Amino acid sequence: MIQTVRGVRDIPPEESGRWIFLEECARRIFAQYGYRELRTPLFERVELFSRAVGETSDIVEKEMYVFEDRGGDALCLRPEGTASAVRSFIENSRHRTLPWRVYYLGAMFRYERPQKGRYRQFHQIGCELFGPEGPLADAEMMALVLRLLREIGIQGAVTLEINSLGCPVCRGPYRERLTAHLESLRERLCGNCQRRLTRNPLRVLDCKEEDAALLQDLPRMRDHLCGGCEAHFQGLVGHLDRLGLPYRFNPLMVRGLDYYHRTAFEAVAEGLGAQNAVAAGGRYDGLVAEMGGVSTPAVGFAMGMERLLMLMDEARVAAARADVYLVAAGDGVVEAYGLRLAETLREAGLSVEMHLSGGSMKSQMKHAGRSLAPVAVIIGQQEAQEQRVAIKWMETGEQQTLPVERLVEAVRAGAGRAGQSVNVES
Ligand code: HAM
Repeated sequence: MIQTVRGVRDIPPEESGRWIFLEECARRIFAQYGYRELRTPLFERVELFSRAVGETSDIVEKEMYVFEDRGGDALCLRPEGTASAVRSFIENSRHRTLPWRVYYLGAMFRYERPQKGRYRQFHQIGCELFGPEGPLADAEMMALVLRLLREIGIQGAVTLEINSLGCPVCRGPYRERLTAHLESLRERLCGNCQRRLTRNPLRVLDCKEEDAALLQDLPRMRDHLCGGCEAHFQGLVGHLDRLGLPYRFNPLMVRGLDYYHRTAFEAVAEGLGAQNAVAAGGRYDGLVAEMGGVSTPAVGFAMGMERLLMLMDEARVAAARADVYLVAAGDGVVEAYGLRLAETLREAGLSVEMHLSGGSMKSQMKHAGRSLAPVAVIIGQQEAQEQRVAIKWMETGEQQTLPVERLVEAVRAGAGRAGQSVNVES
């Protein structure tokens, strides 16, 4: 038997309802903030990511799914969405007006070691905003992230962490200072950090292997910000405070992608173990120019859908279920009558699961119970003859018999009473 590839999984029908629920929440909230969907290709040129994400990032160094197509072009499966959004922004820039607000949603691919919350094909929901330069945009984006987390019921489980990574003016001198300091501690660093000391010393700050006391004593970016970066950070903190949004300053957060300037943020959840970031993002003001476009500030984030779903309490999101389960127990005439009624109910906009496998009334009612539909429409020989239907409200057990013309109206009235098919507690 051929199985799925390691780190890759199906989303079976029992789970897909929760995915759809999450996607719909995200789309609704993004629209409230003026974002429209951008759909980019699943594969791009390798160079797009090596330039945007950075040659020394883990993603480019060892995680991309790279292949050569039959024409000899070096391509890869997209490991993230920001570089593609930037490419699309630049490629079609003649038609763009600023601000340009886009969101995306879909599969990303990284050859990482699979573990809880970490897959080789995973799914992100992300937003990118091109144009605004000030901290107001960063604050609005964090408000959006927190609103989405609240909407899906997990805000309480998540902490927003913020930091500033400076800009090319102040990061260079800070990097030198940090490297000099780390050189003096070289012997105490893990093998990986010793290797990246010259290539990417900032990554030492968020290395999980290093001793906490050593990290606490390292020089911090925050103490080396230039005037512009410090004012930006203060501005952001002021906006978050005035909005009453909870956050924590994390001076050790550096992010694994090289394109960030100034603001960086992550939403981290305690219950997830080592892979605890459910959302991450920041400002990347230099990237559009670096990729060949006209210099344009930008800020964005992406969330890992698998991780969000792990946190969403099963009970909060009812599995997608039909409004009506239709039971037709009897001969072919009864079944044909049932099928016609199912179509009538669907015509009226209701979702109907009809029992299609025959069997006794009793066994069909068992299936009706298992389906979680709030109401069963029941037809036997007598109902078919008299052009009537019986309906049973599954929660209360209440039952009534009606003339067929009143069916749609009765089910609709009851559906209002029983709540919607996807029901989320506030
Ligand atoms: P990132 O931190 O690489 O940032 O990924 C963002 C989120 O995607 C992570 O916080 C995590 O929830 C999820 N994620 C990443 N890798 C995996 C994986 N292997 N398995 C499951 N989930 C994963 C970015 O991708 C940036 N493009 C974010 C951004 C957008 N910055 C600005 N705009």
